[in-house]
Amino acid sequence: MKLTIIGSGYVGLTTGTCFADVGHQVLCVDNDERKVKSLQEGKIPIYEPGLEPLVRKNVAARRLRFSSSIEEGVDHGEVLFIAVPTPPQDDGSVDLSFVEKVAREIAQYLDSYRVVVDKSTVPVKTGERVAQTIRRYAKPGVEFDVVSNPEFLREGSAVEDLMKPDRIVIGGNSDRALALMQKVYEPFVAPVLVTDINSAELIKHAANSFLALKISYANALSEICEVAGADVLKVVDGIGTDKRIGRAFLNAGLGYGGSCFPKDIAAFIAISEQLGVPFSLLKEVQSINQRQITRFLDAIREALWVLKDKQLAVWGLAFKSNTDDVRSSVAISLVEKLVAEGANVTAYDPQAMEKAKELPVGSKIKFANSAMEAAEGAEALIIATEWPEFAAVDLAKLREVIRTPLIFDGRNLLDPGSATNFGFQYRGIGRGINAERTAE
Ligand code: UDX
Repeated sequence: MKLTIIGSGYVGLTTGTCFADVGHQVLCVDNDERKVKSLQEGKIPIYEPGLEPLVRKNVAARRLRFSSSIEEGVDHGEVLFIAVPTPPQDDGSVDLSFVEKVAREIAQYLDSYRVVVDKSTVPVKTGERVAQTIRRYAKPGVEFDVVSNPEFLREGSAVEDLMKPDRIVIGGNSDRALALMQKVYEPFVAPVLVTDINSAELIKHAANSFLALKISYANALSEICEVAGADVLKVVDGIGTDKRIGRAFLNAGLGYGGSCFPKDIAAFIAISEQLGVPFSLLKEVQSINQRQITRFLDAIREALWVLKDKQLAVWGLAFKSNTDDVRSSVAISLVEKLVAEGANVTAYDPQAMEKAKELPVGSKIKFANSAMEAAEGAEALIIATEWPEFAAVDLAKLREVIRTPLIFDGRNLLDPGSATNFGFQYRGIGRGINAERTAE
């Protein structure tokens, strides 16, 4: 099928590439001409495992093309996917101006029937607005349908999430459009859930909010574990083995970050308020999340007394492992706070250092070439992102290079017993039993 993806960011680029890889003829459109040019040369602006070779393969096979012309996009695709940013506004509500602009642009070039798909994460009822906008700006009598088809990809495993999805959600009210959407997804082996547009839009916000709720649940438990002298890892293993609960997304830590959860939870709160049914549970999810970083900083201050002029090693800057994305990264917030209190930070991240250097805080810290180099001479080590290589650290070597053996493990990557045996004072999240135990 001929498909057009409008917006070649994280979602658009990965979706378009995977569609091409299953055999569709895909045109990815973006209004950033520099980006389009570099994509045409096979250069990917993000680090996403498996994506770059897949882009190259499908460009070479002539199934994947890039353009900055929306007119060409509307002409090319039987189905037009809108995958433009939906950034948050100051009050948490979603800025839909990019979606609205694309709807007007599509309308301008629409000559014959097209399915217009909302792929971006949008508030419930956006589909109705998109349809209304296209109708208003299109030539009289031209036919189209609007469909909601939310994405559920995670950064770091985006290609796999797209190729082997848990489910495909298609929301629409026209048989003609739904039949075309079924055809788009025919090559994918996954259950397809067909709903009305509003339900499909809600599924996306409801899913992300529930995942964030699970994380905040584990984080709230971590606080109780610290005070009660229990280990949150054991508690979540104990509850997660219940199939009704599930172990995924119950890792306590510094809290969730990234370009989706913080934004989507804030948006869902705003949407529920606009609908007149405030989702107050989600406010608690947010505040538990914020409390994690505050509690962690308190623990660092408590141990180090004064942060000013302290030499601190920070492992991890990305908002999670397997990505170079530092948007709304809790690791970055933590570094900003440490720097604001006068600490000298040397950071290391396997992928995110280039992006971190571009941030204001990037000029105020040092960057090391390896995790061990960052720890050299440090008065404490702080682990802020869950990269697997940090969990595999050689503790004996770390003990040799670090100045004072203090570890603050914001992602519970290390075993407290092993760290203690190597002479470290270890503090994880919600690990009450070992929290203050030292080898002395
Ligand atoms: C998320 C959703 O998972 C995905 O379905 C949606 O399409 C987009 O938003 P993403 O933001 O890429 O994906 O990352 P995710 O793996 O969900 O992690 C989000 C944050 O939660 C990270 O900061 C991560 O460190 C944190 N997290 C995750 C925890 O603190 N504990 C966990 O148990 C899981």
